[in-house]
Amino acid sequence: MNSDDAPSTTVLIVDDDTAIQNLLSIILQRRGYRVLTAGTAADGLAQLAEHQPELVLMDYQLPDRDGLSALLEIKSHHPSSYVVMITGRGNEELAVELMKAGASEYLLKPFDARALLERLDTVLKLREIELANKALQAEREHLLLEIETWNRELQTRVQERTEALHRAQSEIAQTEKLAALGYLAAGMAHEIRNPLNSISLFTQLLGQGVEEIEIGDYLGKILKEVDRIDGIIRKLVDAANRSRLVVDDIRLDQVVQDALAIFSPQIEARQIQVQFTCPEPAPPIKADRTELEQIFTNLLINAVEELPQGGQLSVRISCPEGLIEVRVSDNGGGIAVDHLDAIFKPFFSTKSRGTGIGLPVARRIARLYHGDVKVEQTSSQGTTFLVTIPREQK
Ligand SMILES: Nc1ncnc2c1ncn2[C@@H]1O[C@H](COP(=O)(O)OP(=O)(O)OP(=O)(O)O)[C@@H](O)[C@H]1O
Ligand SMILES: [Mg+2]
Repeated sequence: MNSDDAPSTTVLIVDDDTAIQNLLSIILQRRGYRVLTAGTAADGLAQLAEHQPELVLMDYQLPDRDGLSALLEIKSHHPSSYVVMITGRGNEELAVELMKAGASEYLLKPFDARALLERLDTVLKLREIELANKALQAEREHLLLEIETWNRELQTRVQERTEALHRAQSEIAQTEKLAALGYLAAGMAHEIRNPLNSISLFTQLLGQGVEEIEIGDYLGKILKEVDRIDGIIRKLVDAANRSRLVVDDIRLDQVVQDALAIFSPQIEARQIQVQFTCPEPAPPIKADRTELEQIFTNLLINAVEELPQGGQLSVRISCPEGLIEVRVSDNGGGIAVDHLDAIFKPFFSTKSRGTGIGLPVARRIARLYHGDVKVEQTSSQGTTFLVTIPREQK
């Protein structure tokens, strides 16, 4: 090492022997080191605190304190200052102890200049490597800490996003519920129009004057329609969860006949010929009567609306394996092929006063019972709708 190589390396010599102080100073200064000197441990520690020298060259025997305790203090308070201890000849055991206590090197007296400089060079290189290592270690710890912070931040963000997502999902669910409710409400309002229509017709007939014995019959029919509306309104109230369902053993042949009876005024007025076939009593299914009735009132009203004066309406019930099938046919004008996809969509109607809710409601109810409503065939000769409902209802 020459003076250019170590312009800023400072060595503190702690030795009460001024001759040795001077000698070491000369040797070290010649090699370019900046040299500080102290005659006591106390002075040495003070200078150390002030100048933070890279290297301390310290005699073990100091007037105010033993070298071992001074060494321990230096290593604990100034860990980046490396200490080379100088001990008397024949004191190898002590030298080992000093190394254990943190000395980087030791020199046995007497030593020559070359040996001294070689040791110092080695210690300084070691120090450099160790300090660089420590810096890397610190950097690594710093990075780990940062990663941990990022991780925590990321977790917080993921949690925040998850919560936001849950909120959004529940909002969507809420909106969907409202939409479903709105849809259902519209459907129910539509359903109410049919019985109202019947009530209005029966009332008109009563108003026109009828035979005494028919009055009771008509009033009975009106009351039945009022009950139906009442049932529908109750359903509207519980629309979202169907909690007011009255599940009973229901026979579809009876349901269809009840539905046909509702339209008897129109059927009679238009002289529509009705054919009803059911080879055997339909097996009962577990269902809500009012719901099932809605399927058939919607199909029958469509057929009646479609039929010309004196047209033909037929309802055929059959019970193949595990199913109940009801075919509602009319000999009206049929459904245009272009419309076949659209007719089950809400609000599609080709009628001037139609709302387009009848078929979607019919299909929705059938599907609630794991069945379906389909167009089985349609042509200019008429249309057949097929309703299928499985016998077994969960
Ligand atoms: N039996 C049928 N014959 C011919 N077309 C039909 C028949 N049934 C339904 N359609 C067609 O399907 C459309 C949709 O029927 P849907 O019952 O859903 O509504 P709508 O009868 O028009 O109105 P709403 O029933 O709400 O009063 C009808 O407008 C009509 O074009
Ligand atoms: Mg309709």
